[in-house]
Amino acid sequence: MKRRRVIYEGKAKILYEGTEPGTVIQYFKDDATAGNGAKKDTIEGKGVLNNRISEYLMTQLQGIGVPTHFVRRLNMREQLIKEVEIIPLEVVVRNVAAGSMSKRLGIEEGTALPRSIIEYYYKNDGLQDPWVSEEHITAFGWASPQDLDDIVNLTIRVNDFLSGLFLGAGIKLVDFKLEFGRLWENDYMRIVLADEISPDNCRLWDVTTNEKLDKDRFRRDMGGVVEAYSEVAKRLGIMPESVQGENKGPVLVQ
Ligand code: TMP
Repeated sequence: MKRRRVIYEGKAKILYEGTEPGTVIQYFKDDATAGNGAKKDTIEGKGVLNNRISEYLMTQLQGIGVPTHFVRRLNMREQLIKEVEIIPLEVVVRNVAAGSMSKRLGIEEGTALPRSIIEYYYKNDGLQDPWVSEEHITAFGWASPQDLDDIVNLTIRVNDFLSGLFLGAGIKLVDFKLEFGRLWENDYMRIVLADEISPDNCRLWDVTTNEKLDKDRFRRDMGGVVEAYSEVAKRLGIMPESVQGENKGPVLVQ
């Protein structure tokens, strides 16, 4: 088999050259990191679940007209995506106070926010993804005012839609992180949703018990990470046949 060219290897994903021009293959690893790489582990089955959950959410969003980089899922761990020029921003939306917002502003975790809040972080591992404002983004040219306008409009639509979708599954969408890219089609450019949407980059709490069903279980050493991700997949109605998938043992046929 021909070896594929690696374009980029990140903490949780590998990007390979795609099978068609203008495409890329996104491979979901089982690796998990937190604190900008300070804490590392492998969580068997996480990549399979994130591939499936992200496929589902991106497809649902495409269904309401949100442009994304997603083309199709290829197998248990890979999806075909469109090649985009990633905008170096992490766009975080918060509906409920948690994580760094609670720490930074002294707001108790779980406090409902008076309105959804969008924050921007500059994607730069060396600087540990610092918090930045729209002023920094446009002044340094990471995104133009028009790009930012598109990003904010898409982010609000994604938040509204996903909040409702998760609520229907008994899950509170506390906060999440999005990434966007520029998709070039001839001379025409548009901003599309990129990366992934999964329990790795969302805070998802059970709507009645507030049980955490996301990566905070790893960040805070709570255990039960794969079980929580599986629960999210199950509630969304997309549980893959087997979390381990590739090394599933024999099945008794009755
Ligand atoms: P934070 O509370 O740590 O700032 O995180 C807010 C949300 O953004 C949370 O759902 C996790 C997600 N996130 C990422 O996906 N990647 C990151 O590098 C960071 C800092 C947060």
